[in-house]
Amino acid sequence: MHRITEKVVLSENIVKTVFEAPEIARKRRAGQFIILMIDDRGERIPLTIVDSDPVKGTLTIIYQVVGKTTDQLARLEPGDVIQHVLGPLGHPTEIEGIGTAVCVGGGVGIGVLYPIAKALKEKGTRVISIIGARTKKMLILEEESRSVSDELHVTTDDGSYGYHGFVSDVLRDLIAAGTKIDRVFAIGPVPMMRVVANVTRPHGIKTIVSLNPIMVDGTGMCGACRVTVGGKTKFTCVDGPEFDGHEVDFGLLMSRLQMYAKQEQEARERCRCGDHDR
Ligand SMILES: Cc1cc2nc3c(=O)[nH]c(=O)nc-3n(C[C@H](O)[C@H](O)[C@H](O)COP(=O)(O)OP(=O)(O)OC[C@H]3O[C@@H](n4cnc5c(N)ncnc54)[C@H](O)[C@@H]3O)c2cc1C
Ligand code: FES
Repeated sequence: MHRITEKVVLSENIVKTVFEAPEIARKRRAGQFIILMIDDRGERIPLTIVDSDPVKGTLTIIYQVVGKTTDQLARLEPGDVIQHVLGPLGHPTEIEGIGTAVCVGGGVGIGVLYPIAKALKEKGTRVISIIGARTKKMLILEEESRSVSDELHVTTDDGSYGYHGFVSDVLRDLIAAGTKIDRVFAIGPVPMMRVVANVTRPHGIKTIVSLNPIMVDGTGMCGACRVTVGGKTKFTCVDGPEFDGHEVDFGLLMSRLQMYAKQEQEARERCRCGDHDR
């Protein structure tokens, strides 16, 4: 049982939840994730550990409400419990020895990127962050991102705040201006990560993306999270979640994410009707 200690609604459909999980809080490193089950009848969903407090024994997650389980999670308040939490899972991010890193985050991906930018900064890397959202009210963690960056660029698709355009446009401009970049970390919607990888490929800038396929067991046994990287099959839960963006088959990932769209829509409709059991 993991007791929720804090809940904050960060934007229209993005929520931050802090809950007790002392053993995971002690071990966790940037880039790792958990798989949680709200109750015994729930489904297992993966979420990145955005922050941890080893002293209080808590984990912080930030998630977008997209379907049944994230909808249920967002309804839980301090004092409520999450029944099962598995983790920390996945390889931690490689953060040593990087001169200048550009951290590109889109939407809820900013939450996943923030601990990586923070860890890079703590290791002495020069961090340039580019964060973007569809519109100003959907932008999250601006001040937190600023506090761990030497340079911060903010974009909105509709121009309601910051640069009018996509995060990849700002990255393209930085490269064109001759900015020395040793590595790019891109986390956000799959099409965004694909575009960022296409921007950096001709310049040979190593680009790490964090993949988000459907997961079930998180142990490399079920095969649900398989992706193709460099022509080889990889399991995101045990081989990732980070991969070389220039090697990822993004088209395949997008089609696999759509596989259960109809069933997911039906589950969410039932959840909205208050019938969580079917
Ligand atoms: C390693 C990993 C880390 C993740 N970290 C975060 C995080 O920190 N914050 C966060 O908000 N989300 C994160 N995700 C995505 C998150 O797991 C899904 O949004 C969640 O499982 C959806 O569950 P649901 O029951 O609410 O929605 P579902 O009913 O399962 O799905 C609803 C809609 O969301 C889409 N969807 C489902 N799963 C994913 C997915 N894995 N990625 C993108 N879209 C999906 C579906 O196509 C569908 O349209 C992560 C995924 C992985 C694999
Ligand atoms: S989630 Fe089952 S193999 Fe990765």
